[in-house]
Amino acid sequence: MSGNTTFTMIKPDAFADGNSGAIIKIIEERGFRIKALKLTRLSQRKAGQFYAVHKERPFYKDLCDYMSSGPIIAIILEKENAIDDFRKLIGATDPKQAEEGTIRNMFATSIEANAIHGSDSDENAQIEGDFFFSELEKFYLD
Ligand code: CMP
Repeated sequence: MSGNTTFTMIKPDAFADGNSGAIIKIIEERGFRIKALKLTRLSQRKAGQFYAVHKERPFYKDLCDYMSSGPIIAIILEKENAIDDFRKLIGATDPKQAEEGTIRNMFATSIEANAIHGSDSDENAQIEGDFFFSELEKFYLD
């Protein structure tokens, strides 16, 4: 069982398509509580830092171009077993593989423009939340 915090981003494709509200509604209906939320935009450099773990992958440059192409919404979420439950809710990375009812099945257009991010571990949820939110912005999380 994972911890009670995860981090998500509504990605540029989903934001541009006007799907942010629908996605947040589903997230809340599934029992996740919003602890911090921010509309922002990644620079190419910041996107490169966020996805540094994928630096050697062939899709890295395109991924950074895409993730800096428009606004995103960064959110810290709380729920029991947050990491596992959220990854089930968003579905597989490739929307063609994402099960019916998952957010990527409903809103993603390609493996790259896949609508939403979800942290893959408690440790990464902490790192990714810290990437977007200052201590002041997270002061009420504890
Ligand atoms: P996410 O899992 O949120 O974080 C890594 C991102 O890299 C992933 O979503 C996709 O947006 C992108 N990605 C992963 N695999 C591929 C791939 N094979 N081709 C293009 N983009 C990918």
